[in-house]
Amino acid sequence: MTENTLEIDAARADAFAAAYPVRPVPAEGPVDTRPICETPGTAGPGGRLDPLWKAVVRYTRTRGNDIHLPISVAYAERLCDAYPASARELVLVATLLHDTGWARVDESRILSEGFTGDWRKAQIRYEHEHQGCLVAREVLPGLGYSEEFVERVTAIIEGHDTRHVAYSLEDALMRDADRLWRFDRAGIALASSWFKMDPSTYADRLAAEIVPELITAAAVEMATADLARSNALLQTGVLR
Ligand SMILES: [Fe+2]
Ligand SMILES: [Fe+2]
Repeated sequence: MTENTLEIDAARADAFAAAYPVRPVPAEGPVDTRPICETPGTAGPGGRLDPLWKAVVRYTRTRGNDIHLPISVAYAERLCDAYPASARELVLVATLLHDTGWARVDESRILSEGFTGDWRKAQIRYEHEHQGCLVAREVLPGLGYSEEFVERVTAIIEGHDTRHVAYSLEDALMRDADRLWRFDRAGIALASSWFKMDPSTYADRLAAEIVPELITAAAVEMATADLARSNALLQTGVLR
């Protein structure tokens, strides 16, 4: 990365921070805190993103992507409802594709490096982001998406795990959708096993570490409601 690129990136982060000075960013539209299975959104049959889903099926068979990505897209839809100023298609497509790159990295390193130590900065995290961008560039043009749109998608995917700050509202919504899925019981089931934690410990970590990372107020509301439901259902008060 050149010095010039770093300056541009810093300017984009500053511009977003200046445009949305109140954190978490207050919602402008309705916030739906019902269980996520109530609104599967575009993931359902006949949804307009079906051609894109079909194009990436093989990239969904790694690291629980076939659970993580559809649930995250459902959350992304709700976040777009809560922030109607966002470019909806961009948020949904970026969320759908953001982790497809996991399917192109050495699978044995995913759990050994991707979830241990300083896992956010593990080399394999950069690799999955980079490969995800390549997947986006391969599949999107054939589905009629413009070059400019593809660039906006890859700008979000690149750095979605390893970059600390968001560059745009759409970037922020993708990041929040990527975290929200973990608060659903399916997310707790999968992710707690990745981190080798029991569900109670993992749920505690969600409250202590992941809620404060959420950028939007809508995501905080949804996460809080989901976590209360998941804690009750999984008896985390007792099973610890
Ligand atoms: Fe990721
Ligand atoms: Fe993800």
